[in-house]
Amino acid sequence: MILGIETSCDDTCAALVTPGGEIRSNVIASQGLLHARYGGVVPEIASRHHLELVNAVTADALERAGARLADAHTVAVTHGPGLIGALLVGVSSAKALAASRRLPLVPVDHLHGHVTASMLEPHSIRPPFLCLVASGGHTFLARVDHPREYTVLGQTLDDAAGEAFDKGARLLGLGYPGGPEVDRLAREGDPDAYHFPRSAPGELDFSFSGLKTSLLYRLRDEPDADRADLAASYQRAIVTALVDRVKAALEREGLERLAIGGGVAANSELREAVAGLGTTVWVPPLELCTDNAAMIAGAARFLEPLPYPDYLALDASARLTGRSPTQ
Ligand code: KG4
Ligand code: ZN
Repeated sequence: MILGIETSCDDTCAALVTPGGEIRSNVIASQGLLHARYGGVVPEIASRHHLELVNAVTADALERAGARLADAHTVAVTHGPGLIGALLVGVSSAKALAASRRLPLVPVDHLHGHVTASMLEPHSIRPPFLCLVASGGHTFLARVDHPREYTVLGQTLDDAAGEAFDKGARLLGLGYPGGPEVDRLAREGDPDAYHFPRSAPGELDFSFSGLKTSLLYRLRDEPDADRADLAASYQRAIVTALVDRVKAALEREGLERLAIGGGVAANSELREAVAGLGTTVWVPPLELCTDNAAMIAGAARFLEPLPYPDYLALDASARLTGRSPTQ
């Protein structure tokens, strides 16, 4: 089995995955509530909590898989992109675990993990496919021809889609994380009540920062505007931007299968919209869409491991990576 560790943002994660892509355990210790009072992730707090949690989460993942460290033949770890202090905890911990048993180690690009999350069993998608990853930290469209690599076709030039949800929610006086709150409130509103800008910075690129400014001005000019109508219209603008690019990419690239991932894949309007595209769509269960270590161990199946002791000099990188993307 492959032991995966992921600590790139605010979730401390460990998982065991078989070489065939079956998940034996997938433990996620979310720090969400700790950061909620600050309205966003505080990097220094995140790394301190990773440090406190990583050993217990790893032990829990082994126990739930009915395994011991001796049952792992490889260790996989996210080495970027992400918060540098947070990443360092996972990388150091993975190096120590691997070195203690002279196991090989696979450094994994976090985004490659998201892209291959839908390749885990029991319902794995086969390349070639298009993948939309939309989370609080990233939003991009990738073409996947081989599980080892991906090509970014378009990406956000400013805010990520989840960030747009979170910032919009804050302006609307909703809680953090904002995506689920906007999703809930939007169900009671009229998505055509307001028009928000749908900027098109490039054929397959995204831009979401103008959207929150537009909401800010709307609230300033119309303080009594119906919050549910605003939430519904704001959400419609984000979802339309995502789905329009997905449609264009499927056509341009001649692809027939689509996978979506990242926390925003939980959005009910987005799920409905992609289901109506007439393409076969893979939406992994939510715990595989949001940050998790099963996707990291899963991606490691397709990569070349570093033998002991070569990886002892491995560093984390906030920006990454150059290892797997063919961008
Ligand atoms: O993948 P994720 O858990 O963490 C990273 O950012 O890596 O994604 C979290 C993001 C947050 O911005 C959150 O607001 C958004 O996903 N999100 C949603 C929904 N659930 C979570 N956005 C829209 N609708 C949802 N139902
Ligand atoms: Zn992520």
